Amino acid sequence: MVHLNETHRTFFQSLGIKSHHDPEQLREYGHDETEDYVFPPELVLLPTTVEEISAIVKYCHHEGIPVTPAGARTGLSGGCLPLHGGILVSMEKFNKILNIDTDNLQVTTEPGVITEVLQQVVKEVGLFYPPDPASRGSCFIGGNVSENSGGPKAVKYGVTKDYVLNLEVVLPTGEIIWTGANVLKNATGYNLTQLMVGSEGTLGIITKIVLRLLPHPTHDVLFLVPFFDARVACESVPAIFKAGIIPSGMEFMERDALLWAKDFTQDQSVPVAENHQAHLLIELDGFDEEQLQREAEHLFGVLESFDTDEILFADSAAQKAALWNLRRKVGEAVKTQSVYKEEDTVVPRYQLPNLLTHVKSVGERYGFKSVCYGHAGDGNLHVNIIRGALSEEQWTQELPKAITEIFEEVVRLGGTLSGEHGIGYVQKPYMPIAFPEVTLQLMREIKRVFDPKGILNPGKIF
Ligand code: LAC
Ligand code: ZN
Repeated sequence: MVHLNETHRTFFQSLGIKSHHDPEQLREYGHDETEDYVFPPELVLLPTTVEEISAIVKYCHHEGIPVTPAGARTGLSGGCLPLHGGILVSMEKFNKILNIDTDNLQVTTEPGVITEVLQQVVKEVGLFYPPDPASRGSCFIGGNVSENSGGPKAVKYGVTKDYVLNLEVVLPTGEIIWTGANVLKNATGYNLTQLMVGSEGTLGIITKIVLRLLPHPTHDVLFLVPFFDARVACESVPAIFKAGIIPSGMEFMERDALLWAKDFTQDQSVPVAENHQAHLLIELDGFDEEQLQREAEHLFGVLESFDTDEILFADSAAQKAALWNLRRKVGEAVKTQSVYKEEDTVVPRYQLPNLLTHVKSVGERYGFKSVCYGHAGDGNLHVNIIRGALSEEQWTQELPKAITEIFEEVVRLGGTLSGEHGIGYVQKPYMPIAFPEVTLQLMREIKRVFDPKGILNPGKIF
């Protein structure tokens, strides 16, 4: 990979784009939320127009300079780390919502809009953009598209890919394209829109996003269900769906996940008894309060066949917000407790209890503690492996073997490596567990067609 020389720097300066180059700023832009990795770029550019991005990329393509697009850098797989230096293109100036189409229930937005801001703006006109990653208060919608983010609502409403209709993209050669059309059905050629979603900034730089929206539900109810056995909590999950209930949130938290979130948020309002081993946070939503009430009673009926403690019903907006805040803060809370590694495992929902049991048994054999939480309704378990007192050798030499064992079991159970955090930098060694060589080769060929010189976000996925 080519490093920046004076001629390159003079060219980038001539574009008149705001930039950062002092070492402290480069370090800042060289990390995201993935463990403790830092890969400073050589120059940060903050373009404001698609033409500027095209000019940057065209030049980098010609010169062989690596370019890494970055959003809010809240990712958990290192997708925006500039592994090979070069240029980091920050999308933070692309922060405008361009059009809310209330006739067709669509929104066109730039990628640097904070997801929660987008959600609130469309909610003001009665519309709903459901995907809501835990970081929604700080992450960018463009990063959500690039990583195909999920979040708690995915269980009923699907993930980011289910809302993306069309994208404006700067290709790694500098050309600007639209990938599809602003329509709900599209059977016109290969689906480049969906190829771009989740491609982690390796195939193009997204500059405009068209999303479909839904009418916003008017009512919701929220319950925290304590279990004496974490496996039983997981076993109750498929039973709820089998009973015909599709919750709008179905989150699992192991005991320590909730306790650490309580410490982190200093919110002690939720009781966790000595014998509570796990909780499910279950939300139902809809447009009819009475129907929601009937559905809640049905849900309690299903839960009666499982060994639960008394169910906590969030009876005010403040209590709902507090419960969701605890759940959303688990990731950050884990971070403050210890050095850790996070795996974003996903299995068919029914296999969740088996996955949990396997993770714990691998932990016992390798001597590590894990804290598990996540989107139980999607079979998506965030496995946080805690470093604690593990030696350097155990952490760097033995742990990858343990993670391999976990992923092998995940695949045996019918699942895969990542549900919503992506492969990025940290999970790429494990890709051969999920795919045979012929499939990986197909992916590499697709990358080559888009990016023949391999300049865009090099070193990611495979
Ligand atoms: C969560 C993030 C880590 O579910 O995906 O909290
Ligand atoms: Zn998650």
